Amino acid sequence: MYSEENISSSAQKVLRDNTIDECYTVPTRLLYPFQWNWDSCFILLGWITFDEQRAWTEIETLLKGQCHTGKIPHILFHHASDTYFPGPDIWEYGSEIATSGITQPPVLATCIRLAYEFCKNKDLARQYIEKFIPQIIQYHRWYHTKRDPNNTGLIASFHPWETGRDNSVEWDDPLKRVPLEDLIPYERKDLEHIDPAYRPSKDDYDAYFALLKEFKKSNYDQEKLYKISSFKIADIGINSILYRANKDLIFLLETFDQFEDYLPEIKGYLDIQSQAFEKFYSNQTHLYHSIDLVDNKHLLDKTAASFLPLWAHSISQEKASLLKKEFDIWISKSSYLVPSLDLSSEKFSDEKYWRGPIWPILNFMIAKGFEQYGFANVEETIKKQSSELIKSCYFKEYYNPKTGEGIGGDKFSWTAAMWLYWVQN
Ligand code: GLC
Repeated sequence: MYSEENISSSAQKVLRDNTIDECYTVPTRLLYPFQWNWDSCFILLGWITFDEQRAWTEIETLLKGQCHTGKIPHILFHHASDTYFPGPDIWEYGSEIATSGITQPPVLATCIRLAYEFCKNKDLARQYIEKFIPQIIQYHRWYHTKRDPNNTGLIASFHPWETGRDNSVEWDDPLKRVPLEDLIPYERKDLEHIDPAYRPSKDDYDAYFALLKEFKKSNYDQEKLYKISSFKIADIGINSILYRANKDLIFLLETFDQFEDYLPEIKGYLDIQSQAFEKFYSNQTHLYHSIDLVDNKHLLDKTAASFLPLWAHSISQEKASLLKKEFDIWISKSSYLVPSLDLSSEKFSDEKYWRGPIWPILNFMIAKGFEQYGFANVEETIKKQSSELIKSCYFKEYYNPKTGEGIGGDKFSWTAAMWLYWVQN
């Protein structure tokens, strides 16, 4: 067990040690040696607690990779590295900065709002945020027009990596549709750094790689991909996160008033999402689930993402109480919170990546979601347990919900950031 004080200075050290070129933070050395989109947004929250200037440069660097269409890529390959697959030579995307050809959950506007509310130097924040806002607007516009071209209110993802929950069980069936015939041999790098028992399977990777090929064949043309992609799902995680981010973008537009003209556009997006949100609800499970957009059906696995509508604040108090009921059952089954998959699922694994292990960033969003609906005690419980996990196992990538053991990558930046911004307070 580490003391609070030691652990806080170690958390700062993790962020400093993972810094490259004094302007961005890698999730962890070796396993993930580049800049990741949603990692950097949560990492902003860590930096803001002790170095505000450095916090804003994290996002400034991320936004340098935005493409002309508005998309913010999931990875920015600022420097070459041979410890990661698939690298820039495989994606063949990006102009000035090589990037991947997909995106990640849009937590950006929300993390900027939270960092703004937390920071002391509001003038410094204002200088940066005023520059960021036009780019955030473009990013949200990209999501709403390219990933929901028919204004259904259901935002599509074309690759499991876009959801940030790479090998979650929900994607198992949709991935079976991905054609694997033309797959050329490739060499994974993740297995050189982490025990294969904790990582996605070969079948998963084959499908990930085949999808990437499908994108390249279509020249990353989003209109075309929306029509033909063999993997097209409306992830309850992304849809909740974007809903919340639209509200936080509205807050930013109202706070920095020269952007008022954009308010109707963003309010319009939020409106479309509000009208559609109950489509994610299933009367069978009394929970919110991702939707497979190819055959238009719910993916009924009970994953931790089913609690993210609380983070979005997009559902009624009555529905939130149903989620609380389900959560109480999860508490009774799991030694530690919050497992990424219901322990009763036959696909549950206490070690395998997004198929059971606990992720501190999800804990943060779920806890804050419950708090918004008046369940402050749940927030306290999740925070206390996150504290125990981090104090006993340090800043790991994820944690075993049965034993509390820390697994995956080491000295992990967003775990350190969650400690600094949320857990220690
Ligand atoms: C893994 C996670 C993803 C994260 C990345 C870097 O791929 O699934 O959510 O962004 O690692 O930490």
